[in-house]
This record gives sequence, structure tokens and C-alpha cells, in this order.
Amino acid sequence: MFFVKNQITQGLAELDAQLLRRKIRTVESPCGTRIHIAGRELQAFCSNDYLGFANHPELINALAEGARRFGVGSGASHLISGHQTIHDLLETKLAQTQAQSIPKANALFFSTGYLANISAITALSNLKSSASRIYSARLNHASLIDGVRLAKGQSNADVFIFDHRDLGPLGDELKRDSSEHILIVIDGVFSMDGDLAPIGELLQLAEQHDALLLIDDAHGFGVLGNQGHGILEDSGLCSERLIYIGTLGKAAGLSGAFVCAHELLIEWLIQKARPYIYSTASSPAVAFALIQSLDLIKGRVGQEARTKLRSNITHWQNLAQFKTWQILKSDTAIQPIVVGSNETALQLAKDLDLAGYWIPAIRPPTVPQGMSRLRMTLSATHTHAEISVLAKTLFDLESKGWSS
Ligand SMILES: Cc1ncc(COP(=O)(O)O)c(C=O)c1O
Repeated sequence: MFFVKNQITQGLAELDAQLLRRKIRTVESPCGTRIHIAGRELQAFCSNDYLGFANHPELINALAEGARRFGVGSGASHLISGHQTIHDLLETKLAQTQAQSIPKANALFFSTGYLANISAITALSNLKSSASRIYSARLNHASLIDGVRLAKGQSNADVFIFDHRDLGPLGDELKRDSSEHILIVIDGVFSMDGDLAPIGELLQLAEQHDALLLIDDAHGFGVLGNQGHGILEDSGLCSERLIYIGTLGKAAGLSGAFVCAHELLIEWLIQKARPYIYSTASSPAVAFALIQSLDLIKGRVGQEARTKLRSNITHWQNLAQFKTWQILKSDTAIQPIVVGSNETALQLAKDLDLAGYWIPAIRPPTVPQGMSRLRMTLSATHTHAEISVLAKTLFDLESKGWSS
């Protein structure tokens, strides 16, 4: 134990020296654009609650009603006795959201997006005949990266990393590839940069090389597309090669995620996806509330929230021009301000905190070295006035002599 304690103390000291130590901040109020921390009210530009559903009265009521009607716990994993009628109905409705994009679509509901991603990648690389080749985008979310790492360990999958902004090397590598089974894995909306994956080109490559294309649309579901059904609805693409993963803890306001794919692929996941098989099914009350959330997303409330969010994004884009900081090109709610060093990112986040804002500093390994940033996110519940005041605060801070 002494050895472990020494090693951990040293490890923590190293993280401190590199300004990479993470800290938990406890929020004393419900999720919203104004939150309380350590007795102070801060204006938050940091959550993924893009439509303002995390504290929506209709969903609060739905969760309470769901608990009264179906109980709070499922009591077992889906394949033992935890799969209730309400989970089944939710999965049917989740599959319907992608029915225009994936022929014979079925869906599986997971407790989190992290588990959904790990499940889909490991199950779909665990085929009978031969090892799979996985093509994974460099800036993919950690849960996709971990899924790929697990697939490597579990099924000996071979991995090629590509840059989603330059598909040339990916195309060249695919031409040389003689693997029987190829899986391309990508974020729909890049969670730290906010840009969209070139899924049209990727699907073409998948068609040419008989590959599956797995898209993690954690930041697109609820937000993109006319009905809020995500990046596939938005793109109009349709193929049985598509595996769609949407999360339900971001725009949908609650928690959980789903994998949607051709019924045969979903049947394989039921057999092989270990987090589905060996983890307790999510609360039936949450499943019930998620069905209400899907109705809100598709209906007038969702439409209005998406319109408001788009107008907030445009408003910010019109204001955000800085001399020393880089604003990444993004048309989504994720609007990062790249400042460079860890030190600058932490100092800027601290100064913003003093000015009454919460925009967290994001450092490696979440983003590449030298690309530390403030990951600013917009919600439909922000006002133009609030965004303007934030921009002014940032201009004032920058003019006081910031540099990257
Ligand atoms: C792109 C992406 N995928 C997956 C996840 C994981 O989803 P969840 O928070 O539901 O586990 C996240 C969460 O931050 C994410 O940003």
C-alpha cells in the first residue's frame, strides 16, 4: 500500500506540474444557464443541454409519473428480467427516429453513450471468421477510442487512425485493404471542435469497400435535422451499412443512449454487447420520460428550441472575432475558443469565473497538445443579450493583454 500511495502522490504532483489535474466542482442548483456553485450564481456556457430539456417541467412530470407507473428500478439486466414494456416501447420509438435512414432499423437502449459506443464497436468487431479492421477518426470521443482499444484487445482488430478533414489517406488505405470486415468509426459532431463529420463521403467509401459506418451523434441527436433526429436526417443519407448512436443525456435532457442499425446487426449486439448483457437496465421511469422527450424533440417545443439555438449560434458567430484566440469553424452549439497552452486556458477560465461565468478549460488528453481551449456551448435557453455580454467580457479580457 505504501508503494501505491507514493506512486499516486508522485503521479498527482506530475499532473499538478503540467497543469493537468482535474477537479470536481459541485453544482448546487438544477442544470440551467444560471447555476449555483459555492454559494455564487454563475452564468453557464458549458453544458450539453442544448434545448433546455434537463429541467423542463413536462419531463420532470413525466419522470415522476413514470416512477409511479413503472417503478424506479428495473431490477436486472435486459436479458434477465429488467426489460420492461416501457423499455421495449422506447426502443421501438428510438428506431423510428432513424427509419428513413436505415432500412429495417431496430434499436437498443443503453444506460449511457459511453456504454453504447463500447458495445457497438466491440460487438461488431467480434465476428466469427476473421479479425476486423477498424478505421477511427483521430479526434473521436474517448468512448469511441476506448471501444476501439477494447476491440483490439478482445478480437485482435487492426486499427488505422485517420484525419476526418482530409480523407485522402483513408481512401488510399482502404484501397490497399483486403480485410473481409471493415468498420469505420466517427463522431457525427466533434465534441471538442463542433464541426460535422463528412458522412456523405465516408458512406461512399464504405459502399466502395463493403464497410460498416458507425456514427456517434451524441451532439447531433435532438439538434440536427428538421425533426431533431440527428445527422442522418439532416444529411438525407440512407443505407443498411449505417450504425447510428444517439445519446439521451444531452439535447434529450435525461440520460442514456441508443444504438440503431439494421435488425440483423442489432440481433448480434443482443448476443455480444457485454454492457447490454451484463449491466442493469436503466430505470423504467427514465425510459418513460425519454418517450416524452422524443415527442418534445419532434414537436413544436423542439422546433422552437432548435430555431432559438440556431439564432443564438449565428448571434455568437457574428460577435466572436478575437485577435489572439482562435475561434474554430463550427455551425453547431459547440463553439470552442482555442487559446493554446494549459496555463492560458486555466487562467482565462479563472478570470471568467471571477466575472461570473462558467466555461471550462479543456486540456490534453481530451484535446491535442498546444490546443487547450475553453469549450463554450450554447443552449436554446441563452438570450442574445447574455451572449453579447459574454462576448464583451471576453473582448475586455483579451484587450488587457492576453496572448496564446
Ligand atoms: C461524442 C460523445 N460520445 C459519447 C459520449 C458519452 O455519452 P454519455 O455521456 O451518455 O456516456 C459523449 C459524452 O460526453 C460524447 O461527447
